[in-house]
Amino acid sequence: MTTPGRTGLILDEPLLFERSRPGRPGPAVETPDVPEADPARVLGAALRDDIEDFPELSEIDVVRHYTRLSQWNYSIDAGLYPLGSCTMKYNPKLNEVAASLPGIIDVHPLTPDAGVQGLLGMAWELEQILCEISGLDRVTLQPAAGAQGEFVGMKMIRAYHAARGEGERNRVLIPDTAHGTNPASAALNGMEVVEVRSGEDGILHPELIRPLLDDRTSALMLTNPNTLGLFESHVEEVSRLVHEAGGLVYLDGANMNALMGVAKPRDMGVDVMHFNLHKTFSTPHGGGGPGSGPVAIRNLLAPYLPVPVVRKERDSYRLDDELPHSIGRVHAFLGNAGIWVRALAYIRTLGAKGLYEVTELAVLNANYVLEELRDVYDVPRDGRVMHECILSDARQQDAGVTTADIAKRLMDKGFHPPTIYFPLVVSGALMIEPTETETLETLDEFVAAMREIAEESRDEPELVTGAPSRPKVTRLDEVRAARRPRLRWKPPESE
Ligand SMILES: Cc1ncc(COP(=O)(O)O)c(C=O)c1O
Repeated sequence: MTTPGRTGLILDEPLLFERSRPGRPGPAVETPDVPEADPARVLGAALRDDIEDFPELSEIDVVRHYTRLSQWNYSIDAGLYPLGSCTMKYNPKLNEVAASLPGIIDVHPLTPDAGVQGLLGMAWELEQILCEISGLDRVTLQPAAGAQGEFVGMKMIRAYHAARGEGERNRVLIPDTAHGTNPASAALNGMEVVEVRSGEDGILHPELIRPLLDDRTSALMLTNPNTLGLFESHVEEVSRLVHEAGGLVYLDGANMNALMGVAKPRDMGVDVMHFNLHKTFSTPHGGGGPGSGPVAIRNLLAPYLPVPVVRKERDSYRLDDELPHSIGRVHAFLGNAGIWVRALAYIRTLGAKGLYEVTELAVLNANYVLEELRDVYDVPRDGRVMHECILSDARQQDAGVTTADIAKRLMDKGFHPPTIYFPLVVSGALMIEPTETETLETLDEFVAAMREIAEESRDEPELVTGAPSRPKVTRLDEVRAARRPRLRWKPPESE
């Protein structure tokens, strides 16, 4: 049996089952002075009295157990979360307060429009702001994630070509540096995915795309900045070529914290794009949602917007379901309202100047980390990066140290690891996105930890290959854990 709490540096915590003592009571409730309800009547079939080994503990034991576990959770409120492509930045608590106001959380989704004018007004306002940031004409807030935004955008592109009698345009060109969800969203729409190789410098070049364009071209789906953290500097010319061939340009705009306030997607030739509100505009990404992936479009795609759309009439707002060519409804009601309320609060707090500064700082911080580490880690594609930078384990491999080892050793040093082995175009990639919310001191601490690991990899590689040493569960047999997971606790004697 293990002791609770911290044993030296080892975090350990027994299960409640292991702490159980037969007959130990939980909270004591005074004998009621009203007749007792029959639990079977209240709970019906849900009532069980045969739970084997149900743990018996005092209230304080239970409280401490969960409190200790919660303290082991690594979160953005606990420290830097440099997870590239996920934009795990600090989210101001003010936005949480805004999203938890009773007028927002207590609203019944079927309330008639007249009863939710404030909420519809906020949806309208956010749509206008996203139009301004993107330079595009209309926005739908419905998609519940970036990937769903992609799916919706591609569906609208299909509807557009079909309405023009060009339904055979079914090919989507996707660079090898695109986010992984892009080909999946195109394929789910029944489109054929054609991979475009990027140049040696990690970006797309007009001559690489020209031979792939023809009258089957439906769209180019571009992640910009791409997953190498690089700005697609030929984007205008590439978009022109796609348009000339009759295709449309889709932008994966999940990385807008590298562009907003500085560059507008419309000026790059973009016809349709999605935002990740839960990356760029305050809600934490990760944990599987909920999220919000609004789609912005040029007017030529407006007939196909999902329903309902928000309409402003003089000073009031209403939801409109009458859109005959709409691709349909893609989410219940108007998407995840809590997420877009947070985004609006974030944008309104910062203002246009603040958003510009967010972009500046996100880019500055990523370049700072890159410059501070480039003499000890391999930099697979050189040049100025945008909001994230990519390193690799190429210089540590001779000592038998891999990217996974470096990531695990970072945990010993108190940091969440960065994204690893992505993007796929770089072998052993470490994808670091410090985000704009971190101070210089935090960035320096992270850099120092990474430099220590580089040093250890050279002088004492077993420290790195044996990491992590602090967590209760250290190195897992990953294959066994996946193939033969132990999902239920059993008393030791029955194992
Ligand atoms: C560039 C990019 N595109 C698309 C997505 C997909 O977004 P979601 O996870 O909300 O589906 C992500 C997620 O991080 C992303 O970074």
